[in-house]
Amino acid sequence: MSAQIIDGKAFAATVRQKVAAKVSELKTAHGITPGLAVVLVGTDPASQVYVRSKGKQTVQVGMNSFEHKLDADTSEDVLLDLIDSLNADPAVHGILVQLPLPGHLDETLVINRIAPEKDVDGFHIANVGLLGTGQKSMVPCTPLGCLLMLRDYHGSLSGKNAVVIGRSNIVGKPMAQLLLNDSCTVTIAHSRTADLPDVVRRADIVVAAVGRPEMVPGDWIKPGATVIDVGINRIDIEDGKTKLVGDVAYESCAAVAGAITPVPGGVGPMTIACLLANTVTACCRINNLTDGEDFLS
Ligand code: GUN
Repeated sequence: MSAQIIDGKAFAATVRQKVAAKVSELKTAHGITPGLAVVLVGTDPASQVYVRSKGKQTVQVGMNSFEHKLDADTSEDVLLDLIDSLNADPAVHGILVQLPLPGHLDETLVINRIAPEKDVDGFHIANVGLLGTGQKSMVPCTPLGCLLMLRDYHGSLSGKNAVVIGRSNIVGKPMAQLLLNDSCTVTIAHSRTADLPDVVRRADIVVAAVGRPEMVPGDWIKPGATVIDVGINRIDIEDGKTKLVGDVAYESCAAVAGAITPVPGGVGPMTIACLLANTVTACCRINNLTDGEDFLS
């Protein structure tokens, strides 16, 4: 068997089109332009690349982008004051503080200072609680992207055995919650899981989010299963060259799986597309336009 490739790049382009159409409608019908504020503290090169890409795509879909770049030694008080002013700014509907923050800043404190209705990352404790109890919340972008691709491929996920490998707050835990809310039977596996290969072999859906290059080999995969690879790992190959690989061994898994996301071009592009979608969702809710917030379906 050779797996169907789930093309995240193409899927993300359709999400962006739907976002752009909704943005245009919000402008013409209501005179509202959704706005996303991104805060970057310091000069981490990977974070700078992400932030640039977020700003560019925000403008491409017709929204306002507000970038705030702060020095690495910015004090917590200054950062919290900035968040307070963004919370109060009616032109800002989404706020994202790029992580990781420099070590002297308390990430939990900073994230929980964002107004929950503007928390487009879905990291605020109120949104975590809402998601955990199956209520309307802001949903973290990477797991949301994975869910949209899974729903698109499978239709209903009800009754499927899903294994999420990785228990991070950003991906593993919210992913498990979303799958549970879609009536999957969910296992969260991690570094201490006993007999991980056997656990993964029972899964109809495998979501790998561990950050370890090519950790999941093809012989762990049940024939026909769907494999969602969240990993983005840069590894050395010959002659000083590098390449990007996921958390699953692509070739061997693709030989057994029914469907698989590639790296690059799978989950990655969906994350920013879902950030844009979350900003529109936040804008609709803040303006009590909740009828129109199902623009993705
Ligand atoms: N750093 C890496 N991924 C993310 C993300 O999804 N959101 C934020 N805020 N920072 C990140």
